[in-house]
Amino acid sequence: MNFQIALIRGDGIGPEIVEQAVSVINRVGEKFGHSFAYVDVLLGGCATDAVGKSYPDGTAELCKSCDAVLLGAVGGPKWGSEKPAEQRPETALLAIRRDLGLYANLRPAALRPALADASPLKAEIAARGIDLLMVRELTGGIYFGKRERYDTEDRGVECADRMAYSEREIARIGRRAFEMARLRRKKVSSVDKANVLETSRLWREVMHRLAQEYPDVAYEDVLVDNCAMQLVRDPGQFDVVVTENMFGDILSDEASMITGSIGLLPSASMGDGAPALYEPIHGSAPDIAGQDKANPIATILSAAMMFRYSFHLAVEAEAIERAVDQALADGFRTPDIARPGERAVGTRQMGQAILDRIDQP
Ligand code: IPM
Ligand code: MG
Repeated sequence: MNFQIALIRGDGIGPEIVEQAVSVINRVGEKFGHSFAYVDVLLGGCATDAVGKSYPDGTAELCKSCDAVLLGAVGGPKWGSEKPAEQRPETALLAIRRDLGLYANLRPAALRPALADASPLKAEIAARGIDLLMVRELTGGIYFGKRERYDTEDRGVECADRMAYSEREIARIGRRAFEMARLRRKKVSSVDKANVLETSRLWREVMHRLAQEYPDVAYEDVLVDNCAMQLVRDPGQFDVVVTENMFGDILSDEASMITGSIGLLPSASMGDGAPALYEPIHGSAPDIAGQDKANPIATILSAAMMFRYSFHLAVEAEAIERAVDQALADGFRTPDIARPGERAVGTRQMGQAILDRIDQP
């Protein structure tokens, strides 16, 4: 088959890691008889430098003309929060999520077998295994609510960020979570702050209604503070964790860290139509950009998710995942996952090690 992929290389380490993922995609194409065409899409700080804004006109249309979008990373100190909104890379990231309708963000966090000892958790906790899927609502809540800044007479400047959720928004992300759970270990943990927030009380009502429709899936409510604690106390208890936008942002960093490295975890963001967007969950790491030090695995595993969810090619996805596991089992480590004293390889060498293993049966 023939697929068109939009590439957002982005800032910092973005271009380096996307390059490795593209090599892997092409190799999978050769092996399984698919061909790929790439469309470069300018977005992020690099776009600000090139054309004065981080989200150039026509970006969404360009992405919509493709079957899927692969994004490296955007952001950096050069385009910080003191800059006007249209120049900040984060603005572009939120805009592309909104314009492509990518309300469901899937962030799997699994302890890869070869790296069991990279988890910062105690060995006996890690030994129980970690294999969870964070399902984060991505186009609603406080990220997209009204922002205000105004002067008051007696309290100086005051700001407000509105957090709103509709039943419809909650139901569609909830449904995704239950459907994903059916393909996994059939358990949904819904995370909220229903003891304080009205949006969370609605969240909980809607989730309870959905739970009735999925009697084969075990369901529980978890308060967000308790969830943060349970993730380090006993992460093995979680299968699918579904939560609103900001809670999901915070908890997914925590979930990734307990698996050993944020450099390993992929993500998929999808809506009801094409294209979906795939990206590593880590940032642009400007401190190591251009030094061949970044771990390309999260981006390569994001490409595997692209094969599975956008191209419906599960065998190809597994070939990539197996090659990654094999490279790790064979001892290849980038600096972020190397133990003290262990020899580390660079971005390109790690990419090559994975490429070599795509061909192996
Ligand atoms: C993420 C990132 C983004 C977010 C930032 C860069 C806006 O942290 O994808 O998790 O908060 O969604
Ligand atoms: Mg984040």
